[in-house]
Amino acid sequence: MLDSNFFHYNAATLHCDEVSLEGLAAIFGTPLFVTSRRSLTESYQTFEHAFKELPHFTCYSVKANFNLTVIRTLAELGCGCDVNSGGELYRALQAGVAAEKIIFAGVGKRSDEIVYALQSGVLMLKAESMSELRAIDRIAGELGKTAPVALRINPNVTAETHPYITTGDSKEKFGIDELELPRVFSLFSQLPNLKLVGLDMHIGSQIFDPQYYVAATLKLLALFKESKELGFALEFLDIGGGFPVTYDPLKPATPIEQFAEKLVPMLQPLGVKVIFEPGRYLVANASVLLTRILYKKSNHTGKQFFVVDAGMTELIRPALYQSHHEVQPVTFHEETIVADVVGPICESSDFFARQRSIGAAEEGELLAVMSSGAYGAVMGSNYNGRLRPAEVMVNGSEVKLVRKRETLEQLVQNELF
Ligand code: LLP
Repeated sequence: MLDSNFFHYNAATLHCDEVSLEGLAAIFGTPLFVTSRRSLTESYQTFEHAFKELPHFTCYSVKANFNLTVIRTLAELGCGCDVNSGGELYRALQAGVAAEKIIFAGVGKRSDEIVYALQSGVLMLKAESMSELRAIDRIAGELGKTAPVALRINPNVTAETHPYITTGDSKEKFGIDELELPRVFSLFSQLPNLKLVGLDMHIGSQIFDPQYYVAATLKLLALFKESKELGFALEFLDIGGGFPVTYDPLKPATPIEQFAEKLVPMLQPLGVKVIFEPGRYLVANASVLLTRILYKKSNHTGKQFFVVDAGMTELIRPALYQSHHEVQPVTFHEETIVADVVGPICESSDFFARQRSIGAAEEGELLAVMSSGAYGAVMGSNYNGRLRPAEVMVNGSEVKLVRKRETLEQLVQNELF
């Protein structure tokens, strides 16, 4: 069982803060994402505390959970935002984040997105190729602006994580090859509408070993020194996101303090502002996906299934990365059974857990799929004609609906028929 201050059993019923998940399902229906505001606050404060010795700016990576209320909650605590598209920029601005607290990333930015970012006045655009630098320069010139840019470096460090979420390796599409940097630095003399403000990296996600950050940061530091010798006065060094969370109590995440212990002494002497881009760390354990058991069944092999009303259209992580999510019955059961927890989608990969020992809940009862706050709702889809679920935020005993359940009408509204 995943131990959490924010999701806990009270009188044998799972609660978020002071609110019963049973009650929430009765009011809002299922599937339902339930987010604890206090958990968001605590994660942010723990992160900030770990890096308090270092002049830094934390930009929440909006791709992990782009719900406006989630973004606003973190922004109110002082966070900036890391966005990866015009759509995410729009969301961050709508949530009330000031443009000068937003950094714009993306391996393939379209011209209209570059225009939007420059016109909004973002803190910086993180460029990933020489061609992109030329494009930003041209667009900035047309707009009569100077574009603040950082260079995203591919440090060629292969962090140990799922292969789909490692990004700092030369095999991958991300960033500018570290060996190409001298040529990139010299390009700036031909690009009058750019101002180089920083260097940036992001080596992957859910990285347990701080050594990978150390290895990549050493490369960034060498390039920082080189840029200084060439006369660039950089203001920012962006270390990216990727800090881990615990999904499986048997595989607890390395505490953030251990990352700080290694990184702070390396970065402190530089006299620049360090940017962090945590996504998952801030939001993953703040939400659960609440789902109802539709049917229980078994087959001749003795295998048992819980068929639930949520699926890979709400949380694709088990299907895509074979990731582990704890599944807890909302009503506590002493007795357990071994079962697969599967959704209603016509794909064999549509499961939340396989051969898992789980409380012996009955049909009609609720299950909570834990740690669903990061890369859950944002990666959702309408596949199989599914309606995107409602989302609520809980703060103590207060409950707010922060996203309405999609309707059948919305499912077809953009089609011209
Ligand atoms: N910065 C950049 C440039 C990124 O590409 C990402 C994530 C982050 C920051 C935030 O990384 P985090 O702190 O959340 O690890 N869908 C996958 C994760 C994809 C991560 C993509 N980039 C999953 O569910 O595990």
